[in-house]
Amino acid sequence: MLSREENQLLTRVRRDTPMGNLFRRYWIPALLSEEIAEPDCAPVRVRLLGEDLVAFRATDGKIGLMDEHCAHRGTSLFFGRNEECGLRCIYHGWKYDVDGNVLDTPAEPAGSQLKNKVHHNAYPCVEAGGIVFAYMGPKEKMAIFALYPWLGVPQNQIYIAKSLLECNYLQGLEGDCDSAHLNFLHRMFKPDARREFLHLVDASPDFEFDEMDFGLRAAAIRKLAGGATYARVSHFVMPFIGAVPVGSMVDGRLDGFKAVYQVPADDHNTWRYDCFFKWSRPFTSDDSSKRDFVDAGYKKLRNKRNNYLQDRAIQKQTNFTGITEFLNQDACATESMGPVVDRSIEHLGASDAFVIQVRRFLLRAVKDFQAGKQPPGLIYEPEQNDFAHVRCEAAYLPANMSWRSLYPDRKK
Ligand code: FES
Ligand SMILES: [Fe+2]
Repeated sequence: MLSREENQLLTRVRRDTPMGNLFRRYWIPALLSEEIAEPDCAPVRVRLLGEDLVAFRATDGKIGLMDEHCAHRGTSLFFGRNEECGLRCIYHGWKYDVDGNVLDTPAEPAGSQLKNKVHHNAYPCVEAGGIVFAYMGPKEKMAIFALYPWLGVPQNQIYIAKSLLECNYLQGLEGDCDSAHLNFLHRMFKPDARREFLHLVDASPDFEFDEMDFGLRAAAIRKLAGGATYARVSHFVMPFIGAVPVGSMVDGRLDGFKAVYQVPADDHNTWRYDCFFKWSRPFTSDDSSKRDFVDAGYKKLRNKRNNYLQDRAIQKQTNFTGITEFLNQDACATESMGPVVDRSIEHLGASDAFVIQVRRFLLRAVKDFQAGKQPPGLIYEPEQNDFAHVRCEAAYLPANMSWRSLYPDRKK
């Protein structure tokens, strides 16, 4: 449970809110590379942390991400001409480069200095893993782009499903940090043989946590016969990544995992990037398609307006929800709470331990940030760019063996 004030503090993301300013200190996903696939492609709208932006790939391949509305008189640059290394407004032809410099004001008299006096707000971008990341904070505080494990594999070994979650980011993030819901929300009555269902053995796991440089590490420990355990280790990575152990095993180890960014579009909407990756091999057509649940704008076909096309017969016979596809099930659970759930009236139990830890971590991070401290997980030296210890695990452990033994020699 949080007070109303704490709930507001954690959930408001616009510029000049404490959380909005904290988020702006991190490199965050802005869009997929495929949305601006080619140089001189059509610009796309991007809503991010409550700001309306436009993204484009210039003639030289550089990426621009800037305020949607032209600095001259506000026409949307979404309609602009992306040509000759810049984006030109269709109203009076002002042209911007990817850094927001005004290159041309053709309606002004020759010799006009107006273009040198105006700067259009633009954000630096980095591309990795098929995602365009943006930095929206103060230039002098810009951290080094952190190369997490899923961003370091070849492009065909990462698979990303982007979708719009129609509620506040924290509801999405709490779902990723909530191992207990797997036993219910995602339960199949006729399990798919390819899936691992051992977590059903013990529906009320014990939880243990480690505080890390990047956030939190959480183990859900389920008791098996004879004192053995099945441990699933998840992570919370600043500022809004939930990493969970999914995927197949290779040589007794989990072959990659899933990292989910819950990127606030604004206070009431979230761009969710589910990044699946494998260390051992590329994804193939056998790895089931996870992208056919959204339209061309990454909006879910099953959504709150059509009750997620819930089928009560399926709910009786096939799965717990009557809704197909786990991302739709997650969306129904989190969106149906409302745009920003009131956390002052909830009733938390033992199964919410990780959720509670994540809230505490974020509350402390934002309060420390307000007090002038450095936000956790940011790096400023190239030699710090080592995140091999961000690694989810799922393992059967004999009696008296701790899940922490899965992390020998890994820095904390
Ligand atoms: S409004 Fe864009 S050039 Fe005038
Ligand atoms: Fe889920």
